[in-house]
Amino acid sequence: MRFFVTGCAGFIASNLTDGLLALGHDVTGFDNLSTGRIEFLCEAKRNPRFRFVEGDLLDAVRIAPALAGSDFVFHLAANADVRFGVEHPTRDLHQNTIATMNVLEAMRETGVKRIAFASTGSVYGEAEIIPTPENHPFPVQTSLYAASKLAAEAFIEAYCEGFGMQGYIFRFVSILGERYTMGTWSISIGSCASTRNGWTCSATGSSVNRIYMCRTA
Ligand SMILES: NC(=O)c1ccc[n+]([C@@H]2O[C@H](COP(=O)([O-])OP(=O)(O)OC[C@H]3O[C@@H](n4cnc5c(N)ncnc54)[C@H](O)[C@@H]3O)[C@@H](O)[C@H]2O)c1
Repeated sequence: MRFFVTGCAGFIASNLTDGLLALGHDVTGFDNLSTGRIEFLCEAKRNPRFRFVEGDLLDAVRIAPALAGSDFVFHLAANADVRFGVEHPTRDLHQNTIATMNVLEAMRETGVKRIAFASTGSVYGEAEIIPTPENHPFPVQTSLYAASKLAAEAFIEAYCEGFGMQGYIFRFVSILGERYTMGTWSISIGSCASTRNGWTCSATGSSVNRIYMCRTA
């Protein structure tokens, strides 16, 4: 298959890119290198089935030419840092919601029908039940980051309904691993240790499949 991966130079998407290539797929990666690092793509760039496009998703006209011919979009590019939202009140809106809208429009324009989106467990705010089930009611939003991701989810749902697309929404909880660049390992490992027994995953089927992964204590 031919995959289009946004944010391909970032922590999660660069690992995803390597995984897709290892499975024998073609990958076009798109990234503006704002928080991503080109060295994370060293291995991918040695693979003839990988193509890197340096570009900004807010520069909407750049997306469709890069996306055309893809079978599936993994949309992971974002301002992934939940901190500092109130210091930059429009950043999450632009990087997370409008960038997603631009990806969806490019998909509509080029006839690409399937998208997987990296959302966040933060949409549940200060959830009262831990581990938080997928159908937990949404409390008041507690960050501009989560609000922007929830809006992006809504656009994906509406595009699925309106234009016959298929969406997969993953609400990640804190992920750690090789190439992680935010925060400090000492704090992260400390908080990880108490809840490191693995992941549960639940999914519901519809035109939009929501997949929520949460740690089990
Ligand atoms: N890491 C986690 O624990 C976690 C938790 C929940 C959700 N997520 C989500 O998963 C995704 C990946 O997170 P990550 O930790 O790998 O972050 P990351 O910052 O390492 O990767 C994001 C990538 O997107 C690129 N990017 C940002 N804005 C862009 C734009 N306008 N145009 C093109 N490229 C752009 C950056 O350069 C970077 O390479 C994000 O959507 C994030 O919100 C991550």
